[in-house]
Amino acid sequence: MARTTSPGASGPGSQFDLEGFLRERTETVNAALDGFLPKANARPATIHKAMRYSLFAGGKRIRPALVLAAAEACGGALFDALPAAAAVECIHTYSLIHDDLPAMDNDDFRRGKPTNHKVFGEGIAVLAGDALLTVAFEILAQAPERKRYPVAVQIRELAQASGSLQLIAGQVADLEGEGKKLAVPQLRYIHERKTSALLCGSVRLGGMSANCTAGQLEALTDFGYHVGLAFQVIDDILDVTQTSEKLGKTAGKDVVAEKATYPAIVGLEKSRRIAEQLTAKAFAALKPFRGKAPALQALAEYLLKRDR
Ligand code: IPE
Ligand code: IPE
Ligand code: MG
Ligand code: MG
Ligand code: MG
Repeated sequence: MARTTSPGASGPGSQFDLEGFLRERTETVNAALDGFLPKANARPATIHKAMRYSLFAGGKRIRPALVLAAAEACGGALFDALPAAAAVECIHTYSLIHDDLPAMDNDDFRRGKPTNHKVFGEGIAVLAGDALLTVAFEILAQAPERKRYPVAVQIRELAQASGSLQLIAGQVADLEGEGKKLAVPQLRYIHERKTSALLCGSVRLGGMSANCTAGQLEALTDFGYHVGLAFQVIDDILDVTQTSEKLGKTAGKDVVAEKATYPAIVGLEKSRRIAEQLTAKAFAALKPFRGKAPALQALAEYLLKRDR
């Protein structure tokens, strides 16, 4: 990825090395995750190997990057945002392990490797997901206390984003929507919950780790909501347009499973326009940062243009 000039930014400060940002932050987050998780040989080794197998299989680490970029935009220190960054990646990875189970999307490949249940069996895959979900809160409980955001508030934020009214609600509606021709508002409901909630929660937790102001939190929420929606529209598009090799997961599965997706409901061209419009709204949400959120801006641009 080349240096990009983010739309909406101007002047020499608009050049942002997102590739370098992602490389460095991914390395830091991986080291933090390694430190927070029980060692692979801790008994019972099967579960710790299974947790680490999916966690370190090579995800893009977008949610931790959003945490860290949001913290930076609010003047926070990287170190203080690491528990939140690690916690959201644990939640995300758990959601993928369970999403891939035969009882859900029944996928054999994830992050370029056989899915957790293919390697460890369904029972251990369920438990590895459970354990990653649980350890996420253990990790976030180690976040620094913030004047405006006590740790209990931060924990509640993550619990709500991933709970039965948000991420899980979206997964329920996604399953129940299979084989049905949903209208756009119903599809929007699914995307808001199964994907946008955790991306939005990620940027909000990043802001909280920096003791952000109420105004900053409002801007981050608006940004995260729209980036999160754009992210899932693009995920739906990539499922149709990319190869399994590129995605590291089996492409074309949504059509086979008769999933409700944007390409299925409004077509590819309109889906692309919707993703662009959502990204424009995300850029607009960053206005209060007056150009001082270059990483968030570059991330939103990259998430629209990504091919994996
Ligand atoms: C995939 O998320 C699941 C969705 C919510 C669409 P990512 O595309 O961020 O997956 P990884 O973390 O890079 O594997
Ligand atoms: C996954 O959505 C959302 C969650 C795991 C919460 P998808 O089912 O579209 O994700 P992929 O395409 O399998 O990565
Ligand atoms: Mg799914
Ligand atoms: Mg899936
Ligand atoms: Mg998908």
